[in-house]
Amino acid sequence: MAPSASKEDHSAMYPVELPSWFIRLLTKENDIVLDPFLGAGTTAVAATLHRRNYVGIELKKEYYEESLKNINEIKNIMQKKAEHKIKNSES
Ligand SMILES: C[S@@+](CC[C@H](N)C(=O)[O-])C[C@H]1O[C@@H](n2cnc3c(N)ncnc32)[C@H](O)[C@@H]1O
Repeated sequence: MAPSASKEDHSAMYPVELPSWFIRLLTKENDIVLDPFLGAGTTAVAATLHRRNYVGIELKKEYYEESLKNINEIKNIMQKKAEHKIKNSES
């Protein structure tokens, strides 16, 4: 899988498909996924996507903040999709 980093991203960011594959293989919904080297939060994003909980550890504040941004982005997308689904089921 190709790296997913753009110029602004964490320099060693991996594609979300990579942790997704392991998370789906090794865990169940609501399990906890630990990434002790969180970086831009790709593992936490994948965990969120697959409805797992996560714990992340990151040394650098700027990467921690980038991870929060990425996690919130995916949570917002999932929230909007869920609202859209409810709206469509009501009409
Ligand atoms: C290869 S990057 C992880 C990238 C991540 N997989 C992603 O997709 O964004 C490793 C990260 O571990 C962090 N790190 C290195 N040593 C650490 C330590 N002792 N405790 C916590 N984080 C550490 C670095 O700051 C770096 O962001």
